[in-house]
Amino acid sequence: MKAIPYGRQSIDQEDIDAVIETLQSDFLTQGPKIAAFEEKFANYVGTKYAVAVSNATAGLHIAVKSMGIEKGDRVITTPITFAASANCVRFCEGEVWLADIDPDTYLLDINAVKQLLDSKPKGFFKGIIPVDFAGLPVNLEEYRKLAEKHNLWLIEDAAHAPGGFFTDSKGNKNRCGNGVYADCSVFSFHPVKHIACGEGGMVTTNDEKIYELLKLYRSHGITKENMAENHGGWYYEMQTLGYNYRITDLQAALGITQLQKNPQGIIRRNQIAKKYKQAFEGKIKYQSLPEGVLNAHHLFVIEVEDRKGLYDYLRKHNIFAQIHYIPLHFLPYYKEVGFGDADLSNAENYYNRCISLPMFPTLTDAEQDFVIEKVKEYYE
Ligand SMILES: Cc1ncc(COP(=O)(O)O)c(C=O)c1O
Repeated sequence: MKAIPYGRQSIDQEDIDAVIETLQSDFLTQGPKIAAFEEKFANYVGTKYAVAVSNATAGLHIAVKSMGIEKGDRVITTPITFAASANCVRFCEGEVWLADIDPDTYLLDINAVKQLLDSKPKGFFKGIIPVDFAGLPVNLEEYRKLAEKHNLWLIEDAAHAPGGFFTDSKGNKNRCGNGVYADCSVFSFHPVKHIACGEGGMVTTNDEKIYELLKLYRSHGITKENMAENHGGWYYEMQTLGYNYRITDLQAALGITQLQKNPQGIIRRNQIAKKYKQAFEGKIKYQSLPEGVLNAHHLFVIEVEDRKGLYDYLRKHNIFAQIHYIPLHFLPYYKEVGFGDADLSNAENYYNRCISLPMFPTLTDAEQDFVIEKVKEYYE
């Protein structure tokens, strides 16, 4: 059996042709593919505006900037995520405050967030960044209520979840990033994610003012629109301090063909999840699925005793499982700069037991059977 990674991209001839066609066109960057990708992505998730960026880390940075974050602002997020979910706050000299996870969904626990908010004076916190961890969408309607009550901005880190949805109290299915409840949502197009652009990301919003800010921050703070003066066709204004967080046309061309395949990919990912669940039912704990939710299944996480033993055993058999994630407060950087004062014991227990099994659309039945066999073998 050849090596089986925990995740990998699926690239076909159509993807390759799209990139070659763009290579032969007039624009390698800032051309028509970017706007086309943004429009198609916005339609897919059901939002008004989408801004393509160089990666999700850049997307999170300009998302928090667009919320008007200032030095010292306190922002709540989950300890079980990739560092970028919190680092965007640190880029802006804000403070990261962690709240604990739910032990069954592994998502930021809204009750832990409420407790943290209630334990501090009003106005203490400025924003909240829940994460659709492993592809499981957060119930943003509940977070919106909390955001209204405590006057917080709300950014969804949807890096793991393009195509996932939760059902709100009105019975509407809300696709991650649809802009109904969050101020903005951020997606990643790193190759282990659903849509592979090499590097890439997208920020979505329904708010026109936020959209305008996102575009400014993406491109040096420079614009040719809404200028105080105009000296001629060449003229532009730098209206704020921005970055070069642009995606290229090559990546956007790939993004378009990859996006078309995402619905099929989500179906396949859920088939794989179903088979894992059937194999482990009653024996091994896996991420739970709340009612009315479609898990986009970037990952399939199980919890086991002797996690390191299983990890090493699988590796010995050429199965490259992974651990998602080392809790943020265990990272030396966050130990140094601080992460608030909440009890994070669920996250710590989870970290001792979690392991992500191979999950990607081109995982074959034979490969998955082999993974299941090896997991069971280890425990027998
Ligand atoms: C939850 C989460 N947010 C943000 C990111 C950052 O994504 P990117 O690599 O596109 O910058 C990642 C990447 O793994 C992630 O898992």
